[in-house]
Amino acid sequence: MIRLIDICKNYVVGDTVVKALDKVSIDIKDNSFTAITGHSGSGKTTLLNIMAGYTKCDEGLYLYDNKVVNDFDSKMMTDFFRNEVGMIFQEFHLLPYLNVYENIRLPLIYQKKNIDKSFLDKQLNMVGLKGYGNFRPDQLSGGQKQRVAIARTLVSGVKVVLADEPTGALDRKNASNIVKLLADLRNYGVTVVIVTHDEKIASQAERVIVLENGHVVSK
Ligand SMILES: Nc1ncnc2c1ncn2[C@@H]1O[C@H](COP(=O)(O)OP(=O)(O)O)[C@@H](O)[C@H]1O
Ligand SMILES: [Mg+2]
Repeated sequence: MIRLIDICKNYVVGDTVVKALDKVSIDIKDNSFTAITGHSGSGKTTLLNIMAGYTKCDEGLYLYDNKVVNDFDSKMMTDFFRNEVGMIFQEFHLLPYLNVYENIRLPLIYQKKNIDKSFLDKQLNMVGLKGYGNFRPDQLSGGQKQRVAIARTLVSGVKVVLADEPTGALDRKNASNIVKLLADLRNYGVTVVIVTHDEKIASQAERVIVLENGHVVSK
């Protein structure tokens, strides 16, 4: 479980201090599907990046499975990125000269595991891309590219998927299908948190947390 307690994060730009997050406390239960929503600049990305371990908070406590992430050393952080939490973004960040198989096995390159094709096919099935292993990104639609990005996150066996505006580059129908796919990841024991400024997308989640100027106003 993810537990954030009184998280504060400031950005200092010149003489100005931006309070991006001000005493934010939330719990995310295992195997749940949560949306974080709010206007642009409300602190959504900052909050997600803290959960991902990319950004350190200035104050507060981040507990992951009762372990204090604030105190993780670099080795523990590396394990955390590899095995626990994965991220997807609005842009898909696929490598254009690699096919789908090669893109999704990238995270495993540093883990000296033997990866057979049937394992990769299983990952592609999970995201509804059976038979697309040999396609290159430029042969796929936006929705299909996002599916590849999700499969790439899942190959390492992470337990939590954090998605920052994952539907921002997609039309309404593809957006809705991607959110359905993310919701279905719960069937594989995955916990999902998406950030979106789109209320319609947020309403597809089982729980909606609303941020306003760095404060949680509804959870
Ligand atoms: N790297 C940064 N440096 C300075 N200010 C930042 C930085 N990142 C975010 N901010 C500011 O923090 C606030 C929250 O930003 P962000 O978390 O990106 O919000 P959201 O994702 O909801 O749009 C905004 O006022 C933004 O301008
Ligand atoms: Mg953002």
